[in-house]
Amino acid sequence: MQITRAIVPAAGRGTRLYPITKAQPKEMLPLGARPVIQAVAEELSAAGVTDILLVTAENKRAIEDHFDPAAGLTHDDAPDEARDYGFPPDAARFYAIRQGGALGLGHAVSCGEQFASDEHFVVALGDCTMTGPEPLQRLVEAHLRHEADVSIVVQHVGREATKRYGIVAPGDRLDETSLAMTDIVEKPGPDAAPSRYAVAARYVFSPALFRYIAALEPGLGGEIQLTDAIRAMLADGLRGIAVPLMPGEHRLDVGNIASYGRAFIRMMLTDSGHGEGLRSYTANLLAHIDDPNHPDPDLPSDA
Ligand code: UTP
Repeated sequence: MQITRAIVPAAGRGTRLYPITKAQPKEMLPLGARPVIQAVAEELSAAGVTDILLVTAENKRAIEDHFDPAAGLTHDDAPDEARDYGFPPDAARFYAIRQGGALGLGHAVSCGEQFASDEHFVVALGDCTMTGPEPLQRLVEAHLRHEADVSIVVQHVGREATKRYGIVAPGDRLDETSLAMTDIVEKPGPDAAPSRYAVAARYVFSPALFRYIAALEPGLGGEIQLTDAIRAMLADGLRGIAVPLMPGEHRLDVGNIASYGRAFIRMMLTDSGHGEGLRSYTANLLAHIDDPNHPDPDLPSDA
């Protein structure tokens, strides 16, 4: 079996990023020299995905246009130094569906039921990426190797941070990259958290997921929560696994201003074309902020 399809939920309202998101999708915010959702598509393509369903909303047409090779600027319009940052036109096929209201992540994923057909598929949230493509590749390989129904990339978080994430209850270690997963709890306090492994925005599912989403009543905030469907799958004995990020791997999330700022700085400073110059600029800027006698890097050096 191969996994070639992915659903990318990108229909959320982005209220935490107001006013940036008043009239534009957060998924189009730049992370370094590319929009975050393009980095997501690059991860998917590197993991062998060929067909990507974008779940969008009425005010998110920019996402659909971004992956339409004929819309707006084309590859050929771009100067050489910019072209390399574009998404290669033949790297994947894109499809789009409107969610029709931000009714929760579970609901967004269920919009892809027909698209997924009866195959296993990836879900990759459109508002965050990883520092490299490896975590998603490991996840897909582990899902297939262990014949799982639900597989999730997880990241180790601080004790107080558990209340911001879905937290998984790990079972036995299965191999070098994977742990069994016995339960998942949405945003538990530090004392109730079954571990410090937080869900990190990348999943692989068997088509059984859709049955479980269809059976859900709206949960927290009136939304259909993906976590509730995963919980029900695990309670029924379907096989779940968790694949932790390795040391040095990072999830980069644009969901709020603080995390967006960190993600943007990391991507910009490590960019292959612009990183070196910006690292030197940043070092001088920090020195100037600490000590105004240090030359301001935005003024000419012979001023
Ligand atoms: P979030 O819960 O972080 O996004 O969803 P949000 O609801 O847009 O953010 P706030 O809380 O209002 O600031 C993570 C991903 O899931 C998508 C979002 O677009 C984002 O990429 N999502 C979320 C949907 O597609 N549909 C939904 O109903 C909710």
